[in-house]
Amino acid sequence: MNAAPSVRALKIELIKAKGDALLIGFFKEKFSLSSELKKLDNGHGNIIGSFIKNSNFKGEKGEVKTIFVNKNIKNIVLVGLGEEEKYNLDALSNAVADVSKKLRDNSTESFSLYLESFKNSKFNDEELVEKITLSSLMGLYKFTEYKTKDKNNKKYIKQITIITNSDKKFDNHIKYSSVVADAVNKTRDLVNTPPNVATPEYVANYAKDLARKSNLKCAVFDEKQIARMKMGCFMGVAQGSVNKPRFVVLEYYGTDKKQKPIAIVGKGITFDSGGLNVKPYPFILNMKDDKGGAIAAMHIAEASARLKLPINLVVVTPLCENMIDAASYRPDDVLTAYNKMTVEIRNTDAEGRLVLADALAYAAEQKPQAIIDIATLTGASMIVLGYVGTPFLSTDEKIAEKIKDASKKSLEKVWELPLWQEYEESIKSDIADVKHISDDGDAGVIIGATFLKNFVNDIPWAHIDIGTTVWSKVDKGILTKGATGATVRLLMEMLREWK
Ligand code: BES
Ligand code: MN
Ligand code: ZN
Repeated sequence: MNAAPSVRALKIELIKAKGDALLIGFFKEKFSLSSELKKLDNGHGNIIGSFIKNSNFKGEKGEVKTIFVNKNIKNIVLVGLGEEEKYNLDALSNAVADVSKKLRDNSTESFSLYLESFKNSKFNDEELVEKITLSSLMGLYKFTEYKTKDKNNKKYIKQITIITNSDKKFDNHIKYSSVVADAVNKTRDLVNTPPNVATPEYVANYAKDLARKSNLKCAVFDEKQIARMKMGCFMGVAQGSVNKPRFVVLEYYGTDKKQKPIAIVGKGITFDSGGLNVKPYPFILNMKDDKGGAIAAMHIAEASARLKLPINLVVVTPLCENMIDAASYRPDDVLTAYNKMTVEIRNTDAEGRLVLADALAYAAEQKPQAIIDIATLTGASMIVLGYVGTPFLSTDEKIAEKIKDASKKSLEKVWELPLWQEYEESIKSDIADVKHISDDGDAGVIIGATFLKNFVNDIPWAHIDIGTTVWSKVDKGILTKGATGATVRLLMEMLREWK
């Protein structure tokens, strides 16, 4: 794999920019050049002004035009930003990501970007630099591990320079975004890794490695220890696979050890066949992404450590496969959870909430100040918010506010759903304490959360259902086809401001 491009901010005159390309943003039909741009234009024989006059460049969203100048800068690239009134940080991010991809595919090795031209009065330089860094690094992501011919991209960008007029130092902002982008991209890599490779044991070893490199504490429990701990729901799901389960706990201490940790729990099904309630084609495809919550959680711990955030974290990830076998668990089975609750099984494809039941109860035992779980829990998440946003639910208003606030800052869209008491009716069991799904398939996302609520022992809790947003079908803007790294940006923004 190629190294990620390195990003820096520089205060220099535009005319002194070096490298393959200099990017200048233009809003639709707004072509008057600032004094800085005029100076650049004059230095290049008014090539920009006359190009704009004589070409059909409109400044539309997605429009990119290259002017070959062949001086210390090879090309000047005009980037359309669309109507200024509609411009926001999403538009900026996708424009930067898209043009980064284009330049990469045209064999660009380095480019500069003129910050002032991507700005409007709505945002400040710091957030702009953060989003430019994050979106170029995310947009340039490619998963090539299994391409025997171009495992190493022959075309890749080594250096990105943000040119500014300001004396401010942006180093911390670039560092933050580079670390977060790296966490997002490593999450994508491991989630994209096929299920015959990324088994529970493989992912647990990966976590150990991550811990060693970034100073995290790591404990891995194997199938015998899981049995000894009596995690009956987790074991029920895992028992149909020859790839044995692992239970991974990562800890990060960034402040006084006496301060209660924040717990992050991630669903880690390395492949979800549905079990005896097998998923038919094509629904069984991409079910390697069912480990997305666990993998995101691990990289959130890593990034927190790299950024030395002043918090304590405990990350809990149950890892197993949901398979069909003579030993598989069945509908009608009754399993006893880690917290001793009995659970009537109705559909072996609702396995995520079972492994999470035990992981949440374990996390609650660590007495954290809050628990947040990340899970590819339901297909119903697609009905609620489509591909655009991620539904979440919470028992605690303060946590919900933190998540909403982080959503605005990170640009990862989330929407809160209610946990009304009435939903509890639907999961009453005739023979056990609770059943894990409702009979009618009503309110799928909410019923999933309503079941999980039984295992958090009144600790402030939020559940984030990335069933849909874990995966992208499109290659566009900051998205690349495949795993998205969902919740990494969101929760890093939340942890960064945690009080
Ligand atoms: N991992 C799936 C959720 C999922 C399905 C995510 C499709 C993305 C696309 C989960 O384990 C599952 O199978 N959930 C069932 C629950 C149902 C049986 C109550 C679902 O959503 O269909
Ligand atoms: Mn399932
Ligand atoms: Zn699943």
